[in-house]
Amino acid sequence: MTTNRPIRFIRRGQRVQLAQVPPQRTLLELLREDLAATGTKEGCGEGDCGACTVVLGSVRAGRIHYEAVNACIRLAHSIDGMALWTVEDLALDPLIQPLPGSGGDHANAGAASALHPAQQALVECHGTQCGFCTPGFAMSMFGMYQNHVRRGQPITRALAVRELSGNLCRCTGYRPILDAAQHMQELPAMQVDETTLLQQLELLALDQQGFAADFAYKAPTTLAELLAERAAQPQAQVVAGCTDVGLWITKGHQQFERILDVTRAQELHALHEHGGALTIGAAVSLTDAFAALVARWPQLARFAERFAGLPVRNSGTLGGNVANGSPIGDSMPLLIALGAQVELASSRASRRLALEDLYTGYRQNVMAADELLTFIHVPLPQPGQLLAAYKVSKRFDDDISAVCLVLNLQLEGDRIVQARIGAGGVAATPARARQTEAALAGQPWSEASARRAGAALQAEFDPISDMRASSAYRRKLLGALVLRLWHESQGGAPGLQLQELQPLTLPQEATP
Ligand code: FES
Ligand code: FES
Repeated sequence: MTTNRPIRFIRRGQRVQLAQVPPQRTLLELLREDLAATGTKEGCGEGDCGACTVVLGSVRAGRIHYEAVNACIRLAHSIDGMALWTVEDLALDPLIQPLPGSGGDHANAGAASALHPAQQALVECHGTQCGFCTPGFAMSMFGMYQNHVRRGQPITRALAVRELSGNLCRCTGYRPILDAAQHMQELPAMQVDETTLLQQLELLALDQQGFAADFAYKAPTTLAELLAERAAQPQAQVVAGCTDVGLWITKGHQQFERILDVTRAQELHALHEHGGALTIGAAVSLTDAFAALVARWPQLARFAERFAGLPVRNSGTLGGNVANGSPIGDSMPLLIALGAQVELASSRASRRLALEDLYTGYRQNVMAADELLTFIHVPLPQPGQLLAAYKVSKRFDDDISAVCLVLNLQLEGDRIVQARIGAGGVAATPARARQTEAALAGQPWSEASARRAGAALQAEFDPISDMRASSAYRRKLLGALVLRLWHESQGGAPGLQLQELQPLTLPQEATP
């Protein structure tokens, strides 16, 4: 008989302990239905709108680490051992206090319900109309406040745009909200009493409850325990950040009796260079994984910030995105082009294989029932590498690619020694463009080669038409993006419009 491990977390300076929470209960259900914390709103229920944004606090390198996440697709059990803030808590948390000497002590003295600068700025800048999105914006701004303002880093317009990418407003318009995000740093300052909170979180961590019991939601803290659990309960649903499985629950109404959470296994938080490769553990968030990739390939910065929105990147993991194997996931084309390998492990053994060999069909892969994806190994940059990652979608932020194309050319002078190309949105799985790679190898890097490669790419894939794009458009993009790389490599503007790249030779196909 399975039972449910109690969930313990810190909220408003108090330890909260909840028993018998079902394994697939979402954090939003827990807040709104069990704790009557209805300030946190439900909009889309799929991580796209940000109305449900809350902030989680965890201990990292002896400090509190703050992350805005979507409560609607986050499992309640995943916050065990953390601190939680909802929009109600900004005014009611006794650990949030005016910073002495900043003017806030006078403005907020004794006022239990004083607004936090994130809220006050939204009021002063008229950043709300119907108000449905406002709790989510306030929480993303609270995360921004703690991660930037309290660390002495100014909030620029660009930073505000980036960090509010996961929050949608249907009525106010973004200018007043972005004004508010910048204005909060000018208001009397408030701080979280991190000394007390750290003590509380450390006490929670000491109160470990073993995994011997037959809990329905398991989150082993070592890789050995995790793999043993995987072997013992192969039918358990594996989750990491749960940003996709969360939709299977909220939209697909799927039921899971058992859930196995990989994110507490310490070994899987690895993020380091070893043996000429960057190793990324399966529990590393997309935010941290992309930061490590961008540190080594700065040209990926724009691509990385267009992966979903910040709250999704804070919860989701690169390992989860890869293991999930969605044909429209953006990280796989990048990792395929970079020549990444994945490590699969079980209690029996571990093995490494090229990422493109992981997939056998639509969301199908070669993993055995007792295996888990544990690490991703990405070869480090080489001199002469020309790398570009392109995402084409209808919205700039927080959207799914119609086509994602990543080109990695190894050049010696103007000659292409080797090409690796990853593509998404053009087949049933993330795909490697082997024929086009072969057509480019040994060729000079020239406009003529780029045009030939574009035509080869168009011939290599047979994309479908769906609500995101027609087959003809997707095919056209494949050719245009190679040519775009050529122009950019010659100093052309990165924002070059596709229509400037005409004419392209297209296969004869009716445009729907
Ligand atoms: Fe829309 Fe959660 S309700 S992101
Ligand atoms: Fe209405 Fe933003 S104020 S959705």
